[in-house]
Amino acid sequence: MNVVITGASAGIGRAMVRTFARKGNAVLAVARREDRLAALSQEVAKTQDATVHCLALDITSPGAPQILFEEAIRVFGKVHVLINNAGMSPYQEFHELNYGHMCQILFLNIQALTELCHLFMPHMLDHGEPSHVVNVGSVGGYAPLPRFSVYTGSKHYVRIFTNLLYHEYHGSNIQVSALHPGGTLSEFPELAGQRVKEFAQKNMMTPEQVAEKAYPAILKGKRVIVPGAINKLAVLMGKILPFPFAIRVMEFIYDQNLEQTVPTYPIYDPGEKPAIHTKG
Ligand SMILES: NC(=O)c1ccc[n+]([C@@H]2O[C@H](COP(=O)([O-])OP(=O)(O)OC[C@H]3O[C@@H](n4cnc5c(N)ncnc54)[C@H](OP(=O)(O)O)[C@@H]3O)[C@@H](O)[C@H]2O)c1
Repeated sequence: MNVVITGASAGIGRAMVRTFARKGNAVLAVARREDRLAALSQEVAKTQDATVHCLALDITSPGAPQILFEEAIRVFGKVHVLINNAGMSPYQEFHELNYGHMCQILFLNIQALTELCHLFMPHMLDHGEPSHVVNVGSVGGYAPLPRFSVYTGSKHYVRIFTNLLYHEYHGSNIQVSALHPGGTLSEFPELAGQRVKEFAQKNMMTPEQVAEKAYPAILKGKRVIVPGAINKLAVLMGKILPFPFAIRVMEFIYDQNLEQTVPTYPIYDPGEKPAIHTKG
């Protein structure tokens, strides 16, 4: 299959690239850091009989989803799998959140993901071959995450939107899945401004574990994929506990396991952001 994965330079996205390549799929890996993508492509070329193409692109820049779609068609002709994985959020109360970061959460976690579905799904319907769309949400789509108000809202969007896509395209050649990871040892915690205490790290999944669990579930077309027992428990809690209880439980868990530090995401100024676009 020909697979497009966003957020492929780190964490869960990079692990997905490795997993899909190992199973013999051709991948187009998309993220902003070109050096990271090139290193990943070379690593795969050395060890596996699969090709990883790279596209260095800020998918929130104006016109970027269209650029990504056209590049995928140029490289592959037909695309069978779209994995909307790129996502971000500082770990801060709402008033602390920088305006540029707030826009970035909305543009990346919601707008870019939706636009990419809107571009790739008609193409998949047209070619008619078995296809998959995977949107990466979070357990935060079920359980309320303290100091992540905009992020949690964005992941609720991903969950509901993906459920409805699953329903609309059920029975077509496109299988739609939402992957909802929980705390994962990627770059995310440090970028977000979280120091994860040592004992908590032991209970977190690695990106590789998330990708290994997700791969067979994606191929089966599972509507909801929640990797790991602790994450399943968090989802269950979010479903059954009334909000005032759920948020207190989550605050307790976060306070026991995390310290708030300073987010290290580059600050995006919607007025000045240059479009990054190189291909290889
Ligand atoms: N880690 C967790 O605890 C956790 C928990 C629940 C859900 N998730 C979700 O899982 C997904 C993957 O997260 P992760 O933990 O793997 O995060 P990560 O390690 O921070 O990786 C994020 C990836 O997204 C890319 N990215 C960020 N902004 C981008 C942009 N504007 N354009 C293109 N690429 C962009 C980054 O690459 P560049 O910087 O090179 O662009 C990187 O490859 C996200 O949707 C996240 O919300 C993570």
